[in-house]
Amino acid sequence: MCGIIGIVGVEPVSGRLIETLRRLEYRGYDSAGVAGVVGGHVERRRAKGKIRELEAALAAQPLDATVGIGHTRWATHGAPSAGNAHPQTAGRVSVAHNGIIENFAALKAELQGRGRVFQSDTDTEVVAHLIDEGLAAGQEPMAALKAALDRLTGAYALAVLVEGHDDLVMGARRGSPLVVGYGEGEMFIGSDALAVGPFTKRIAYLEEGDHVAIDHGEARIFDAAGARVERPIQLVAASAALVEKGNYRHFMEKEIHDQPDACQHTLASYVDPIAGRAEAPGGFDFQAVDRLQILACGTAYYAGLIGKYLIESLAGLPVDVEVASEFRYREAAVSPDTLAVAISQSGETADTLAALRWCKERGLATAAVVNAHESSMAREAGVLWPTNAGPEICVLSTKAFTAQVSVLTALAIAAARQRGRIDEAEERRRVAILLEAPRLLAQALAVEDQVRAVSHLVARARDVLYLGRGAMFPLAMEGALKLKEVSYIHAEGYAAGEMKHGPIALIDEATPVVVVAPSDALFEKTLSNISEVMAREGPVILITDEAGAARAPPEAKLVVAPACDPLIAPLVFAVPLQLLAYQVGVFKGADVDQPRNLAKSVTVE
Ligand code: F6R
Repeated sequence: MCGIIGIVGVEPVSGRLIETLRRLEYRGYDSAGVAGVVGGHVERRRAKGKIRELEAALAAQPLDATVGIGHTRWATHGAPSAGNAHPQTAGRVSVAHNGIIENFAALKAELQGRGRVFQSDTDTEVVAHLIDEGLAAGQEPMAALKAALDRLTGAYALAVLVEGHDDLVMGARRGSPLVVGYGEGEMFIGSDALAVGPFTKRIAYLEEGDHVAIDHGEARIFDAAGARVERPIQLVAASAALVEKGNYRHFMEKEIHDQPDACQHTLASYVDPIAGRAEAPGGFDFQAVDRLQILACGTAYYAGLIGKYLIESLAGLPVDVEVASEFRYREAAVSPDTLAVAISQSGETADTLAALRWCKERGLATAAVVNAHESSMAREAGVLWPTNAGPEICVLSTKAFTAQVSVLTALAIAAARQRGRIDEAEERRRVAILLEAPRLLAQALAVEDQVRAVSHLVARARDVLYLGRGAMFPLAMEGALKLKEVSYIHAEGYAAGEMKHGPIALIDEATPVVVVAPSDALFEKTLSNISEVMAREGPVILITDEAGAARAPPEAKLVVAPACDPLIAPLVFAVPLQLLAYQVGVFKGADVDQPRNLAKSVTVE
């Protein structure tokens, strides 16, 4: 999703705006722009495409400003183009915006009716016009901003420059996050802590409805009612080092390799290795609920489905899992003793957040499994169940996924003990197995060469099927999603047993089938499915363990992952699937960290 930065600096800001926009690239974008105050006037540079295009525009026409705003745009209203890139300007006002102004068409018609002329197809331009109208009517900038905000329906984080107010940047948030950074004689606003992290560690998170004015010395923050408020300043851990690629070629590769650490850091919040006990942070009584309703999108949804397999089988607690975009609009029937659990890396995904709020409004207990601990979901859910994967920069989710599965596995054990399904000895045994996951994740990374050897088979395919049984079924869907995203090859994940009910019609010699099958209780059945594929000349890539490899048909291409207990197989077997997608993406020369059309955090519907 779009990224925002605003700086009231004492030194030139162009370089820092560009540097920040690069850090925000991970959110996904298709154009970018900056505006700065130059000699009392606001000037803009904007470009379609990558940040380097914007840099070229700045090299051709430097922007010698110490106060400025910048934006990466992921197109919603209006095609990606320099003209639709932000900042959008009207009169004295320039605006960078993340979100969607839902009533923009009505506002635009109204403004045009008063003689206002629009230059772009964006919804954002109405905000600039509304503020400019207020200024023209004699309002001070913050009053004009507030009056404009009161007219808007929808979601936004804004950064605003006003010509004639050279040391001022205004900001506002509703629905999309915005932080304030406190420097030495300099102030910042940005989409997240990573935006302002390299400039200052002192950050305040704005609340819903807040708007803010920053100048050289202070931030004046006002709440939705217009009352002056203070928001606590926190020291952020999101140091710039965490967002460097190090020796890796792509963030995706780095984040796949981060997984042993991410899993370990996450488990540290859930598992006491000495006592052999699993517990939700802060304690949660799974006896007090009779059902879990998991709500999530994309990869987080697949993590939720894996959680269902684990929690139902271990703890006997019924779990429903639904994509949030469906759940929020279909008037679901939920029982009062349901715990609603949102799962989200960003904690800002619009559909998941809305589904969580829907449950809260109906009085359900709520929890959020979230990686961004200051996000809206983290703050709004009744309980925060953190994943500690660190910032995930690649648009494709990898380490956040395994961290989510780690949390759900630990919760399954805790719930099983609380609900009397396992005794303390069995809990200790399960916890010991779970604690092996970081080491086995590290071992799983060693399949890299084996994966490379089969990736060409996938890279030249037009369609790829992924099959799995049990918890390997949602993992197969996740593997297929990873491949689609990074390589643009069509891929689908199916329950292996479901194949003969339709998908088998797709099998031919040009359609590779990736089968995820550790040698567990279902392995025999999956072997039969492999035979069915091979009988139709489908090339099979079997991701299994050593015992599985020993029983595989000789024609199958093998990727042999470390043997592990079924409890942690979804974690261990995620790695070969992620590496396969990554290597196919690299092989195809794809934009691995920022695939086309994708945004890291989907804060619009
Ligand atoms: C896939 C991917 C997306 C996200 C989805 C939810 O690689 O990244 O499918 O998983 O958009 O995002 P969060 O977890 O931030 O709610």
